Amino acid sequence: MILVTGGAGFIGANFVRDWLDGSDEPVINLDALTYAGNLENLAALKADDRHVFVQGNICDRPLLDELLVRHRPRAILHFAAESHVDRSIQGPSAFVRTNVEGTFSLLEAARAYWQGLEGDARRSFRFLHVSTDEVYGSLGPQDPPFAETKAYEPNSPYSASKAASDHLVRAWHHTYGLPVLTTNCSNNYGPFQFPEKLIPLMITRALAGEPLPVYGDGMNVRDWLYVGDHCAGLRAVLAGGVPGETYNIGGWNEKPNIEIVHTICALLDELRPSSDGSHARLITYVSDRPGHDRRYAIDARKIEHRLGWRPTETFETGIRKTVAWYLDSQDWVKNVVSGAYRQWCTSQYGND
Ligand code: NAD
Ligand code: DAU
Repeated sequence: MILVTGGAGFIGANFVRDWLDGSDEPVINLDALTYAGNLENLAALKADDRHVFVQGNICDRPLLDELLVRHRPRAILHFAAESHVDRSIQGPSAFVRTNVEGTFSLLEAARAYWQGLEGDARRSFRFLHVSTDEVYGSLGPQDPPFAETKAYEPNSPYSASKAASDHLVRAWHHTYGLPVLTTNCSNNYGPFQFPEKLIPLMITRALAGEPLPVYGDGMNVRDWLYVGDHCAGLRAVLAGGVPGETYNIGGWNEKPNIEIVHTICALLDELRPSSDGSHARLITYVSDRPGHDRRYAIDARKIEHRLGWRPTETFETGIRKTVAWYLDSQDWVKNVVSGAYRQWCTSQYGND
């Protein structure tokens, strides 16, 4: 079996569902159920005994030791993190706790467990650390996309905490020989993404007739990857990645934010027209995010050439599916959006 951390969050839940769609290998899913973790993301697995959910914190070393000894996984896939840049600006301490201390505690538990394995079990064990392209910093308009060799230049408390976790993972390989794999991925989108992130935020606010807050001039560029493609990339790295190496995963879809927002508005105009006119009327330019990275772009040739992975969705197919999913999943949105989320919106965007 495999142990997944953070499997009740956006990417983790998509990964667990995809994994069990394509394999009978059981999953132990350890998640603290912070505001971003939601068991509704896993509702389809409720009666599936291949999925064992454990509510717990990756900083809890005795719990980690107990789970590893009891379940004896052949791999750990580490998704658990505080993941929202704006929250890291308002309150960085949870990011250091989970992303740095939590990864440290998981690495130490994995090391103790792995050192007790023998033969094939020890040789084939893997620790896959899911990280981000944000660790590489910000690109100028003419700069080449991030390759795996790019120096780390994190600029936000979030990306600094993820960079720190990547360095710990690297060191646990070089010093102790722990068979680690690290992936650095671009912006994901798709079903089950918490509505604080750009794409679901714009969809849900547009449907509610609320202003669509675009930071700065709207010309910051991100590379967008459909979450199902990310999950396939992770499976490829787990199956064929070389321990100690890192793999960039990207969608070859660089787009300025304002173009994303216009695309969402146009899809909503088509699929759920508003009697007040185009949803684009709601677009509102607001103050920029402090330290806002201008451009991210991923060079994903290594994973393609070495492991044969390429994304299958174009942005056009992926965003259409995503908007349709949110339109069909309004109950899910209502249930994940708690009072605490509404307070976050007020502190981030003011009273609209
Ligand atoms: P998310 O915020 O949606 O989910 C994070 C999950 O981790 C939640 O279920 C939460 O309950 C859990 N968690 C948080 N702290 C925990 C702790 N201390 N112990 C146990 N569980 C805890 O995040 P996501 O968007 O699914 O991202 C998953 C991973 O992928 C993160 O490591 C993130 O840095 C990385 N990543 C995300 C993106 C993206 O676009 N979303 C892109 C690249 C990399
Ligand atoms: O690049 C990978 C990263 O992508 C992941 O590591 C992070 O976990 C994930 O949150 C994401 O970070 P971003 O900061 O790029 O994502 P976010 O959705 O917050 O913002 C995307 C862009 O949209 C960014 O340039 C900021 C802008 N934005 C965002 C919000 C929430 C707005 O203009 N308005 C908004 O209200």
